[in-house]
Amino acid sequence: MFVYDERTTDLVLSYCRERLALDPVPLDYGGYEADFSDLLEGLIGPGGNDPQKVLDLFTEHLSTAVVSIDSPRFLSFIPAAPTKDALLFDMVVSSSSLNGASWLLAAGLVAAENQVLSLLAELAGLPPEAGGTFVSGGSAANLSALLVARDTAYAADGPMASAEHGTRPRVAVTGEAHSSVTKAIHVLGADPLVVPTVDHRLTASSLTAALDGAETDAGGPVVAVVATGGTTNAGIVDDLNGSGAVAHQRGMWFHVDAAYGGGALFSPAARTRFAGIEQADSLVIDPHKWLFAPYDCAALLYRDPSLAKAVHTQDAAYLSAFRSAPRAPGRPPVGGRRGGRRDEPGLGEEPWNPTDYAFQLSRRSRGLPLWFSLAVHGTDAYRNAVETAIATARDATELIKTTPHTELVREPELSILLFRRRGWTRGDYERWSSRILSDQIALCVPTTWEGEPVARLALLHPETTLAIVQQVLASMA
Ligand SMILES: Cc1ncc(COP(=O)(O)O)c(C=O)c1O
Repeated sequence: MFVYDERTTDLVLSYCRERLALDPVPLDYGGYEADFSDLLEGLIGPGGNDPQKVLDLFTEHLSTAVVSIDSPRFLSFIPAAPTKDALLFDMVVSSSSLNGASWLLAAGLVAAENQVLSLLAELAGLPPEAGGTFVSGGSAANLSALLVARDTAYAADGPMASAEHGTRPRVAVTGEAHSSVTKAIHVLGADPLVVPTVDHRLTASSLTAALDGAETDAGGPVVAVVATGGTTNAGIVDDLNGSGAVAHQRGMWFHVDAAYGGGALFSPAARTRFAGIEQADSLVIDPHKWLFAPYDCAALLYRDPSLAKAVHTQDAAYLSAFRSAPRAPGRPPVGGRRGGRRDEPGLGEEPWNPTDYAFQLSRRSRGLPLWFSLAVHGTDAYRNAVETAIATARDATELIKTTPHTELVREPELSILLFRRRGWTRGDYERWSSRILSDQIALCVPTTWEGEPVARLALLHPETTLAIVQQVLASMA
């Protein structure tokens, strides 16, 4: 099984070729009612199977039991729209058995990933020394960042240093933040300080009031403030300027979760909504959402990476070789901090090891598909693709307003729309949602807004046209 086999290679690559060529990707149905146990029974046993048989099983029965998240008709949760080049390069990453944990073993890959991180840091307005790594998703990124926030506060001069033994730290967060933030706070043994919002937005005044209250209540010290750059349910960008300033005035870590919305930084017009993002101590942007990368790819950036390194570096005798800059015979030592901006630290400086910036050791070089696609297409193409979704959201808003049976819940800020079908109950929305999936019109699951069931459209795929939105609205008549 370690020998290259031409026939299996052809089989698998021709499947990949066909999948890549689907235009458009069909929505398909998922496996709600399917039972796979008979199909899979006995497949894995002491002996093997013919690869054609296994691939046929996958092609005919498994891969079809999927609602395709990269279909332009997938309008729920957060869709995906990976570029073909990014998907192709993901195959290169897989075929090359890359482990992008360290500079020692993967200098070239780390430099390329860091070039993309530099670009994202620059778009966000972070200082040139900012840096980080790519992790599997926004959830992993939020957890890794908040661990740094907590442990930095525990450090000698941090706000937890003088706290009574046993006191639990708190993280200021609104009810609109992504569920993974609450989960991360729980994992870290911290408590949330839930900040009330103003029109569903974290603002300087609401944060100040909550932090003032926290100074005299019985809870532990607040070590971090989490703001969201594009809420998942409604695409709302918090007041990053105001909340960042308040956090920093009080010596607190400012974390910005722009997992969904961060792609909008490529659009100069949308960028204005993110004013203040440059204050972030840590920032999350998921390229597998609005930057057209395949799963799994989340960018995690720190304003001061040395703080993250102090927390995340794994110490083990067998890993000590990661710490010294490798010197090829006859060549000067290289370290490769952020590939794009500063890549040759002086003698004695440790090389840039992605493992030092998140809770992970071995890692797929998951930033490379995005790197390849960005290098091939250029940033203008990314700006255009992001702006296409924003323009579709704007046009869809007008359509919702002029359709007699629908009513807009609020003006969209990015590319997520909330609207109601006049007179409908949750049951009506749920039946409609199942029906339009059966009819292959769209995947459109309802959400809840201020206690009321409403319809939600997440428009991210550049090929999601207004005609598709029109079909969705017509299906509600
Ligand atoms: C704002 C935000 N943060 C975090 C996440 C979690 O990201 P992931 O699913 O990549 O773990 C999401 C997912 O939709 C999100 O929208």
